[in-house]
Amino acid sequence: MIKKITYKNDSQSTSIIIKNNFAKKYINKQIKSNNKIFFIIDKKVKYIIKDLYKLNKLNCLFLDGGEQIKNIYTYNNICEKLLSKKIDRKSIIIAIGGGTVGDLAGFVASTLLRGVEFNYIPTTLLSQVDSSIGGKNGINTKNGKNLIGVFYHPKEVIIDASFLKTLSYRDIKSGYAEIVKHALIKDYSFFIWLDTHYKKIFKLNQRYIEKTIYKSILIKLWFAEKDPKENLTNKYSRAMLNFGHTVGHAIETYYKYSKKLNHGEAISIGMIIESNIAYQLGYLSNIELNLIKDHFKKTKLKILDRSIYSKKILKIIQKDKKNFDDNINMILLKKIGESFFKKNINIALVQKLLNKI
Ligand SMILES: NC(=O)c1ccc[n+]([C@@H]2O[C@H](COP(=O)([O-])OP(=O)(O)OC[C@H]3O[C@@H](n4cnc5c(N)ncnc54)[C@H](O)[C@@H]3O)[C@@H](O)[C@H]2O)c1
Ligand SMILES: [Zn+2]
Repeated sequence: MIKKITYKNDSQSTSIIIKNNFAKKYINKQIKSNNKIFFIIDKKVKYIIKDLYKLNKLNCLFLDGGEQIKNIYTYNNICEKLLSKKIDRKSIIIAIGGGTVGDLAGFVASTLLRGVEFNYIPTTLLSQVDSSIGGKNGINTKNGKNLIGVFYHPKEVIIDASFLKTLSYRDIKSGYAEIVKHALIKDYSFFIWLDTHYKKIFKLNQRYIEKTIYKSILIKLWFAEKDPKENLTNKYSRAMLNFGHTVGHAIETYYKYSKKLNHGEAISIGMIIESNIAYQLGYLSNIELNLIKDHFKKTKLKILDRSIYSKKILKIIQKDKKNFDDNINMILLKKIGESFFKKNINIALVQKLLNKI
């Protein structure tokens, strides 16, 4: 499958190209252009530039992908290295890696010299279906996830599913969690399709994985384009994409972004908890809640973690970006395929609801 999707944003438009075995050709073409290119690459996918690296003595910075790099220290380190390599405002940064490399490199590109061109080759399922799309980037703080960042869109996103062959099963499932999220907030028939075909998707059957990636990107863009800066200007705001993330981000912060849980695992738990809250508040029916739980059990997505009973979790939830005062705002489901922004849930009530789970 070869697909090209273009979307407009603040100052430019972004082209997303979905094409198998295309990354290497793309990189080659970029190197041969007259631009000064700086690669920020996850070491796990170093092979993609190996031959080229020797030939061209490229400007490459290698990173160990993972939540631990999304911090101010690595950010500073990369900026200093790029500056010492004489990056200028006409240079191009190309990130090659998962969501952590992309979020960090995008933040570097947006702020260094007040912004240099950014292109991104996402190499994990999660980054191909979610984080490479929509222009959010940033780093974590001790107080919470992604609390420092800007909106800054790559000019080109190259999605090459052949990268996924080396990805761990754990990381495939992590990406799958964001795919299910897209189905749950927007598209019932996609949810049923996933429920029928998830085994082929996990096995990376090319036809199914590419269809899943494409469909997921379309849902993400559908929301992101309606409210690009998440100002909650309408009921289709991109805030819906945060379903599962209020609780999920709090769990990640609780565990200090350690490898105990990855992002997809944390938001899987978050989706089940938030579906449960929607049920307890009378929005989601018992039947639909059970359909969701059954799918998570079948696909072996995580559904619970003891941290949610801790008082600390509640304190972290209160610091979530979506809150405007001391009450909690959360994305809830009315049914599978329909989400909404629930404002002002009382903290004591959230605590009570969590204790009932
Ligand atoms: N910006 C957004 O809109 C957005 C959306 C969703 C998630 N995110 C962020 O994305 C991050 C998670 O992304 P992720 O799951 O890609 O994590 P990641 O970048 O940590 O990658 C997961 C693991 O896979 C390895 N890896 C990368 N590509 C590989 C390949 N092709 N083969 C083998 N191993 C490979 C990495 O080294 C890492 O160990 C989180 O920080 C989350 O907050 C951002
Ligand atoms: Zn996410």
